[in-house]
Amino acid sequence: CGIVGYVGPRESLDILMGGLARLEYRGYDSAGVAVIDDEGQIETRKRAGKLKVLREDLERHPLSDGHTGIGHTRWATHGGPTDANAHPHLADDGKLAVIHNGIIENFAELKAELVELGYTFKSETDTEVAAVMIGHVYREVGSLEQAFRAVVRRLDGAFTLLAVHANEPGLVVGARLNSPLVIGLGDGENFLGSDVAAFVEYTPRALAVGQEQIVLVRPDSVEITTFDGEPATAEAFEVSWDASAAEKGGWPSFMAKEIDEDPEAVANTLRGRIVEGRVALPDLDALGDDFFNDIHRIIIVACGTAAYSAQVGAYAMEKWARVPVQVELAHEFRYRDPVLDSRTLIVSMSQSGETMDTLMAVRYAMSRGAKTLSICNTQGATIPRESDAVVYTHAGPEVAVASTKAFLAQITALYLLGIYTATVRGTMTDERREELLTEFQTIPEKVRTVLGVRERIHELANWMADTRSVLYLGRNVGYPIALEGALKLKEIAYIHAEGFAAGELKHGPIALIEPGQPVFVIVPSPRHDDTLHPKIVSNIQEIRARGARVLAICEVGDAAVLPYADEVIAVPPTEPFFEPLLAVVPLQIFAIELATAKGLDVDQPRNLAKSVTVE
Ligand code: G6P
Repeated sequence: CGIVGYVGPRESLDILMGGLARLEYRGYDSAGVAVIDDEGQIETRKRAGKLKVLREDLERHPLSDGHTGIGHTRWATHGGPTDANAHPHLADDGKLAVIHNGIIENFAELKAELVELGYTFKSETDTEVAAVMIGHVYREVGSLEQAFRAVVRRLDGAFTLLAVHANEPGLVVGARLNSPLVIGLGDGENFLGSDVAAFVEYTPRALAVGQEQIVLVRPDSVEITTFDGEPATAEAFEVSWDASAAEKGGWPSFMAKEIDEDPEAVANTLRGRIVEGRVALPDLDALGDDFFNDIHRIIIVACGTAAYSAQVGAYAMEKWARVPVQVELAHEFRYRDPVLDSRTLIVSMSQSGETMDTLMAVRYAMSRGAKTLSICNTQGATIPRESDAVVYTHAGPEVAVASTKAFLAQITALYLLGIYTATVRGTMTDERREELLTEFQTIPEKVRTVLGVRERIHELANWMADTRSVLYLGRNVGYPIALEGALKLKEIAYIHAEGFAAGELKHGPIALIEPGQPVFVIVPSPRHDDTLHPKIVSNIQEIRARGARVLAICEVGDAAVLPYADEVIAVPPTEPFFEPLLAVVPLQIFAIELATAKGLDVDQPRNLAKSVTVE
């Protein structure tokens, strides 16, 4: 989602629409603007759909001139992508407008308070709750700054919030908690944006607003304080790239940006869903415990990367919930006359929620009486709409054709579903659940640590630019990671790559090994009390003896691997089931680095589409 704000002498609408266009790369499904006109009234226009729809609306119903304004592109979280849910949202008297990125976790509780006071709401969003509440406090205090500060201090979650009030033209107030906010410093004018792309054509001078800071932006001044009102400073910097690089927010490609967002994809999918040592999925509670107690089989249907995330999740779900879980490619499932009944739960996994093969599999399963649950990254898409229930991943918009951050979010969501199901079915102890959930919350930070391997992999990939074939080996949850690593390389670097279950090696694929053949091996931690680690070390020895070049992804300090590996990529220790979330990251980076070394367009690989809406 994108945020833009402006105060100064220019026509603010032009700046807002230009800024929103530059933020389009962030992905969105609706857009809107609010401007304080010269009469001191707030005027807004907002529409579901692309900026074009908003632009056409503005042509038909132009706004009056105004020099203070805010604009927003929305990626739906609370409530589907409709005109009513689009931002800005107004306070009940129409004099205050608010835009917001992120999630306000305690919005239900705040909303209940306002309903009690007699307020009604026009949208399903958490943002409108903030707008109405700021408007409510404004009545008492008569100051935008004070009302804004009072409400912001009550909000939990991750957000950026901007507000303007009709009585105070020439002022935009903003707050930042986790979600980004930058200010562009002009001459007698100032800009706000979710990143510098919003204003880089007007000024290279910028301030990065810090965590838990509130800003008061006027044409000639920028005042920064903490949430408590103490004076604070923000980091000043100069934007060094030109406006065209800004389309991707400064990253060389969407895929590079999206890999960098791997940690947030996990964090945002977990956000608000671990409450007091339990998994909170209120939408599933509505189905009732019988829904999960009655099922005797789960089949996850998906295609591509989503199917590999499903394979990872299936190992965990079956172990935790003690119910058979199988994964099937959606296009195979549908045409083989599977045995289905009302005790079968079909979980569909899809980033876009529009993949035709997956949609058809869901429809087919429903027609045969099975229950359906969708895991999806796109609010209001067809597959979640048609399913009995949905668990959304919150990876944010994914633009690059090859899926990266959504993969981590998908595994995260399946694990949440697995722990939830195990709790309902009584197959997991409280201690085990709490242990898993505690570790789960450390994963975003550990993923961030793994992103630090980029430099090393960059060298490795440059050195391997002429490679014609790469193999990937893994066991258990490492096996689908091997498949996903190989898929990434095929998709964007056009290099022949294959993933194998390491145990299968001796049954055929080992014939492929000849001197110099690069093989990635995903090694589980030696600390786990099972036999996987020594088995995979044996596999490494077998291929090494035949001349393979071994690239091992293993736990930091794994001494058993060192003597046999040509390259070691170390990842932090974690629970066995969370290892895939770490191990896949270097493989994503390897694929993008190798494709870049070959000079390929990583965002739009040949022959592929992001969303395949034909069967
Ligand atoms: C296409 C994309 C893949 C994606 C697959 C499933 O083939 O190129 O990257 O994994 O569709 O997409 P979905 O939106 O259903 O997750």
